[in-house]
Amino acid sequence: MTVSSAPGKVYLFGEHAVVYGEPAVPCAVERRATVSVSARDDDHVRVRAEDLSLNGFTVEYSGSTGNHPDVDVPTPLVEAAMGYIDAAVAQARDAADAPDAGFDITVKSDIPLGAGLGSSAAVVVAGIDAATRELGVELSPREIADRAYRAEHEVQDGQASRADTFCSAMGGAVRVEGDDCRTIDAPPLPFVIGFDGGAGDTGALVSGVRALREEYDFAADTVSTIGDIVRRGEDLLADADPEEPSEALLSELGRFMNFNHGLLEALGVSSRSLDSMVWAAREAGAYGAKLTGAGGGGCIVALDPTPETQTALRFTPGCEDAFRAELATEGVRVEE
Ligand code: PMV
Repeated sequence: MTVSSAPGKVYLFGEHAVVYGEPAVPCAVERRATVSVSARDDDHVRVRAEDLSLNGFTVEYSGSTGNHPDVDVPTPLVEAAMGYIDAAVAQARDAADAPDAGFDITVKSDIPLGAGLGSSAAVVVAGIDAATRELGVELSPREIADRAYRAEHEVQDGQASRADTFCSAMGGAVRVEGDDCRTIDAPPLPFVIGFDGGAGDTGALVSGVRALREEYDFAADTVSTIGDIVRRGEDLLADADPEEPSEALLSELGRFMNFNHGLLEALGVSSRSLDSMVWAAREAGAYGAKLTGAGGGGCIVALDPTPETQTALRFTPGCEDAFRAELATEGVRVEE
């Protein structure tokens, strides 16, 4: 058996705009998906998934996926997760030149599903790593990022950027602009995450922004203004002490996060619960707060080294969970 894990991520800046070639800066966070893979001696794939949301619902699922589509899948979210696992299996078979390889797969994740923390990317990255290793092939994190991107791209009908998969495979803070992906220096930032218990429909949200951008110049300008904010944010990180974030850095990054949230709101991808959590964080003294990921529901990310934001979020209507998330310096890794 091979066990690999990969981290989720928050967007410090740049979601949605990244789809149109603007840069984005996602940061990996210490919430991981862990995928255990054992090779089988037939071509079946059996998947067991646990803890696929912070609510802790447990799904026991047996059956074959992909090449054997005659299976009952318990919920739409789990169905989506199965699609990602199938795509990861296809990538691993291709990488190892083993089209008939079968696997027993167990997925455990402490990343809320579909909530803007890159849960699907983490499952795909860890799954490709574990399945290829199980077949005796060792891919570099960059190769895994590339294959994971192709898997996501396929499942999401071409509506995926490289941001989530690259960040999950490499760890740390990364910069993504089109096909150009690189890791960048960042100090340990004091992320606090608020989760409303829900999930946005990434495909619908991305399509909504695309339609708005085609119809209105203001929306196209908003997308490029997000790009300007990302570039300013990147400059701040480039000049920062990579060991320790200064008060001035947090304060400036927080301001730009607030601007970024306002622009995402203008593009119609926020929600009442996301806005409530953003405002609760700001009022509790966070340096800044914004939604993370596709929006529509799910998570916000705030910067606050004190416990205040987390406490305030716990009492905010619409917030189901609030937790601190360290920057994950390690990306995909073998667990045992
Ligand atoms: O919600 P997430 O974590 O899947 O992030 C989506 C980010 C978008 O920019 C909206 C789409 C993308 O693929 O970059």
